Amino acid sequence: MVRVLLTGATGFLGGAVLHQALSRRDGTEWVCLVRCATAEQGRQRIAARLSRFTDPFTAQRLARTVEVVPGDFTRADLDADPRLDSVTHVLHLAADTSWWGEERVSRTNHDGTLALARRARGMPGLVRFLHVSTAMICGAEAPSLVEEAAYPSREARHLVAYTVSKAAAETSLAGSFADLPIVVARPSIVVGHSMLGAAPSSSILWVIRAADRLRLVPCAPESAVDIVPVDWVADSLLGLLRKPSLAHTLYHLSAGEGARARWADLMRAFAAADPAGGPRDDFARFDLAADRVLLRRRFAETFGLDGSLKQAMLRAVRAYYAFCSLDLTFSNARLLAEGLAPPPPFTDYLKVCLANAPDIAEQFADDLDMFVAPAPSSAPGPALPRTASA
Ligand SMILES: NC(=O)c1ccc[n+]([C@@H]2O[C@H](COP(=O)([O-])OP(=O)(O)OC[C@H]3O[C@@H](n4cnc5c(N)ncnc54)[C@H](OP(=O)(O)O)[C@@H]3O)[C@@H](O)[C@H]2O)c1
Repeated sequence: MVRVLLTGATGFLGGAVLHQALSRRDGTEWVCLVRCATAEQGRQRIAARLSRFTDPFTAQRLARTVEVVPGDFTRADLDADPRLDSVTHVLHLAADTSWWGEERVSRTNHDGTLALARRARGMPGLVRFLHVSTAMICGAEAPSLVEEAAYPSREARHLVAYTVSKAAAETSLAGSFADLPIVVARPSIVVGHSMLGAAPSSSILWVIRAADRLRLVPCAPESAVDIVPVDWVADSLLGLLRKPSLAHTLYHLSAGEGARARWADLMRAFAAADPAGGPRDDFARFDLAADRVLLRRRFAETFGLDGSLKQAMLRAVRAYYAFCSLDLTFSNARLLAEGLAPPPPFTDYLKVCLANAPDIAEQFADDLDMFVAPAPSSAPGPALPRTASA
């Protein structure tokens, strides 16, 4: 019997994993730890996320097949719910993905992950704890081809508190939980779905579209960006979760050298997918640190700078550009050596992403939470866990 505890089912990657896993109907039991007041409310939150991948009726039907445990993973060590004891696999996706809420992201992503790991010690049949981190823990000064084993590194210069917290979680898991069967998966930049395009989420897609409209890139046209689609990430996570033995405990889920996109290729792909947007031979390289005025002016001309949404969008463009300019490719040789399928290049499915894409500023709404100051509690009424026994 395979019984998977999933955290983050109401998020972008969690929805993709659940949709693909439940559609397979392979007898696996899925237990979702969801922030909600009642199990039914949690189920409806899962159904809402699944409906981005399928029709509402199927989303409801699939959501009925999972067990919902109301709870907050950051307090999982206090959760004595016996339904967690019989778990055989943990897929830990949940995280605070906002970039700037330093203390809160650290509490959630580092301390919370350790709380979940402590709870996992009370799962006697556990065969794998797949912790989802991020390839960006390498920081801003990594070599252009990044290998898994070089990170986390004390020397890494992080651009945002989010990656600090993810790196710290990896370090603490490795240092204090060697008794658990932990494997770490590090996705690179997840954009769109190779068949559903932007329907499941517009996260990050909007900024690449904005770069196209602004005709400005903060790096050389031959610089690479490592982008993968969410359905491929979901399949790869399911592969790593279930493969009986793995050669390593750390894997990039990334485009790698075979599928990375160079900005020049992206510009050509935009021109082919969206000829109405005009020729793309007027892209200019600019200096992100020195040319703030140029970016602001071009942004105002292209999108307008009226209102707080547009101002937040400009701040977010700057922040994302800082990552886009790093020219990083994350090696996926380990993953491919496990026999898992390679990802499609972003340029191959860009057209699908543009086909059903709404206005760019509207798409930015999918990432807005990442760029606002953290509120004391953004959770929809988390259920109190049962009394501790662990
Ligand atoms: N998206 C990417 O490009 C990308 C790239 C690399 C790595 N990753 C990693 O992949 C994972 C999933 O990312 P995502 O893009 O799917 O994130 P997301 O859409 O922001 O979803 C985050 C999920 O975590 C849940 N969560 C947060 N705090 C929680 C708590 N205290 N208790 C229970 N659940 C909690 C959220 O639940 P609520 O709905 O209740 O808020 C939501 O389901 C993260 O670990 C992220 O670091 C993502």
